[in-house]
Amino acid sequence: MATDGDNNAAIWQSDEGAKAYVSKQDARELKRLAQWRLMGELLPFDDDAAFTILDIGAGTGPAARALLDLYPNATAVLADFSAAMMDEGLASMRPYEGRYSYVTFDMTSGDWPAEIPADLGCVVTSQCVHHIDDLAKQQLFVEIYEHLRIGGWYLNFDPINTADPLIDAAWQRANQRQDPEAAAKETHRTPEEQIRYENHVRYMMPLEPQLEFLTNAGFESIDIYWKHLDYVIYGGSKPK
Ligand SMILES: C[S@@+](CC[C@H](N)C(=O)[O-])C[C@H]1O[C@@H](n2cnc3c(N)ncnc32)[C@H](O)[C@@H]1O
Repeated sequence: MATDGDNNAAIWQSDEGAKAYVSKQDARELKRLAQWRLMGELLPFDDDAAFTILDIGAGTGPAARALLDLYPNATAVLADFSAAMMDEGLASMRPYEGRYSYVTFDMTSGDWPAEIPADLGCVVTSQCVHHIDDLAKQQLFVEIYEHLRIGGWYLNFDPINTADPLIDAAWQRANQRQDPEAAAKETHRTPEEQIRYENHVRYMMPLEPQLEFLTNAGFESIDIYWKHLDYVIYGGSKPK
């Protein structure tokens, strides 16, 4: 693995990178289930509505699964550029057989596969938009908008950073007190963990410009629907 430059694809498309992420999946899912569920609860659809969900950077599909649980007549397209991550997701997705499909898609390519319909009820992204640079984020939001039906929603659950050192220090203090074990691990990273950490933070950015990207793409009803320290769920709808 390269130690400098953008090695996002090399990390996620390797078996090693996928396995390292998935090895902590159970603990992560317990911690984030309420947020994935909230993304579904925010949608303006009846419980029995039939619509298509697109989960970009889906990985093993936890966000899509939470939405499929809330909406039993919905179906999901899980898009990712990593065969290794999609392979890892097959077991977790087995109970949803017939209601979902995986599709290979690089969200920075601008080249949306035909398997992704252009009348999506909602698009969700979880823990992946921070892996692409600022221009790619802006382009992605425009492309998401174009693939939503009128009244459709986009929600992004992602980490952010801040230019204010005092805010950053406060986030870190609270994070360390809330999860001392994770904080201790951060100071004892293996070289591979350090590379993955650098990839994690490379394109992370503050919240405000990301909300502006949504506005510029045409979204309305934009809000920070949930926030805890440096993690947020923001999004908006395609106006009627
Ligand atoms: C941190 S994991 C998150 C997976 C899942 N959404 C979750 O919340 O557990 C990041 C995912 O984004 C995918 N990813 C990263 N860059 C991507 C890109 N340019 N296009 C498509 N998928 C990408 C990775 O393969 C990986 O599955």
